Amino acid sequence: MSETLQPTILIAVYSEDPLFAERWRQGLWASLEEDYPRSSIDFKQATNAEQLAELLGEPHLQALLIHSHSAMDVVPQSLARRPHVNHFVILPQSERGRIDDLLELNIDGYLDDSEEDFFSLLREVLAAIDHKAATPFADTLRDYVRSAKDAWHTPGHSGGDSMKDSPWVAEFYHFLGEHIFDADLSVSVQILDSLLEPHSVIQDAQELAARAFGAKHTFFSTNGTSTANKVILQSLLHPGDKVLLDRGSHKSAHHGIILCGAMPVYLPSSLRVRYGLYGPVTRESIFRAIEENPDARALLLTSCTYDGMRYELAPIVERAHAAGIKVIIDEAWYAHAAFHPALRPTALESGADYVTQSTHKMLSAFSQASMTHVNDPDFDEQRFREHFNMHASTSPQYAIIASLDVARKQMSVEGYALLKRTLELAERLRESINATEVFRVLELPDMLPTELADDGIRLDPTKITVDISQTGRSAEAVQVELFEKYNIQVEKTTFNTITLLLTIGTTQGKVMRLENALKRMAKDTRSRGGEIELKPPQALPPTGEIARLPRDVFFERGAVVRLMDSATALNEELVGAISADQITPYPPGVPVLVPGQVISREVLEYLRSILLSQRHIEVHGLTYRQDLPHLRIAEGEAG
Ligand SMILES: Cc1ncc(COP(=O)(O)O)c(C=O)c1O
Repeated sequence: MSETLQPTILIAVYSEDPLFAERWRQGLWASLEEDYPRSSIDFKQATNAEQLAELLGEPHLQALLIHSHSAMDVVPQSLARRPHVNHFVILPQSERGRIDDLLELNIDGYLDDSEEDFFSLLREVLAAIDHKAATPFADTLRDYVRSAKDAWHTPGHSGGDSMKDSPWVAEFYHFLGEHIFDADLSVSVQILDSLLEPHSVIQDAQELAARAFGAKHTFFSTNGTSTANKVILQSLLHPGDKVLLDRGSHKSAHHGIILCGAMPVYLPSSLRVRYGLYGPVTRESIFRAIEENPDARALLLTSCTYDGMRYELAPIVERAHAAGIKVIIDEAWYAHAAFHPALRPTALESGADYVTQSTHKMLSAFSQASMTHVNDPDFDEQRFREHFNMHASTSPQYAIIASLDVARKQMSVEGYALLKRTLELAERLRESINATEVFRVLELPDMLPTELADDGIRLDPTKITVDISQTGRSAEAVQVELFEKYNIQVEKTTFNTITLLLTIGTTQGKVMRLENALKRMAKDTRSRGGEIELKPPQALPPTGEIARLPRDVFFERGAVVRLMDSATALNEELVGAISADQITPYPPGVPVLVPGQVISREVLEYLRSILLSQRHIEVHGLTYRQDLPHLRIAEGEAG
């Protein structure tokens, strides 16, 4: 590790007795061993609420030692703000009787100050920090690679040996680098544990992740949240069980329902027509669905959404639990939330039973790296494992597992600092975008459909949606110009917005380049003038009746029937038929038909209109015969 990359560790003592705080700070400092570089460990003390608040804003704070007299007040406060800081209560032997009062505090341990053996006490604190910063799987993988064993097992490239001397493919080997190949190992290497039946280093890594994210159990997935969602639905629901879900849920949720044979009850996603943004479901619709479906087994919502809108989940979870409904939250876009108070509470903190997160979307993990967190008191691990193993490859990518381990470590020790910086960059970017007076950042009231105004929805500031309608260009044209002229790739667009995603990897340099590009484009616009009218896309047709179980219809052979003829007239026979496939236009990525759904004239009109429009819209799930779009329907159903 280079000198400049030496992490800084701050250990602090809190006591309302200034002499006590000073004695402890001094004692700990004097006990630092030679092999701990003193320059990288710092000690501070705080003796009142103001100093404590300042301390809790310190990015490098790793451990807080709290004098027992103040513990009952201070620990809950400081844990609420910085749950990833190691908390210790200093409790003299003479006060051991108080331990029962203090037991409910979720802390790392008690330090006995009777002998004031600061050397041992400091060792205990540093051991806890080391434990939090451990990466059991990533370390074992690296050590194994360094031990340079001869491979007589898969994968076939054998640590890259099949490629590095090949005149044809060595270039690829060198492009990716040796370690992507020599760390690509297999279950034959037993000391690397098994993702499908973990019992050593993967299990340890998952336990550390569970602690960091606040779960009872955490499972790593190397097949993305797409798979995690299917596994949860499959392991929780039986054929015919009802599940309440946002129609705008990711397609993996809809696929999960097909696989497990559940009956979906769709909750309508809200739409902000002005910007073409689909948002959360209203609390009223959720509560009504819970009331009308007392036999529902699960509720699945996405929080935050792709655009960063997140629910106030606690009252929703409470209502669902009161009705005996398990709550699954798709936090694909919100894995960072646990590590900064401005982004919390997380779904788990709000009481959710199951949470899936695409660690790769917002944190430092490879694509496809995802975690499933479980807090369900009725969790059946054996059943979950069976379904997990049904979807998981028996040859998981070890670099992905290691990246999950490292991403968790990073957030546990420096997540707060990184997110503090990211949030500051987001604030600065918002201001500079608005200062162009051409581009305008949408704030929550701009994005939120009015019916959600009182639902406690909040916006993740790391997702910035920008109104581009004053540029005189379409969002697609702005996206292309940013890419081709300024080397900038944005996250997504609607017809009149672009969305920028800030992550812990966003740098000052990237922000500056984007600011510069937008400034120039704004100047260009002003000299050229002209606002063009951008027409919002059509709203989705209403969710139709689901007449049969999606699984039953999807797996039938079905009949393929044309949607329209060459003269673009609709095929009337389809009205009232039952769809056998899921039909999803992108954008917005919300299915207009799912298997088992009765096909309405409105859906057919909608499909015809987007297929004939000039917009670039992919429609997934259509079947093409002689270049004409067809729908697959349940057999014998065409009217
Ligand atoms: C809400 C939501 N859930 C799940 C997923 C799937 O995640 P992954 O790409 O990790 O499979 C996505 C992907 O974009 C998503 O937007």
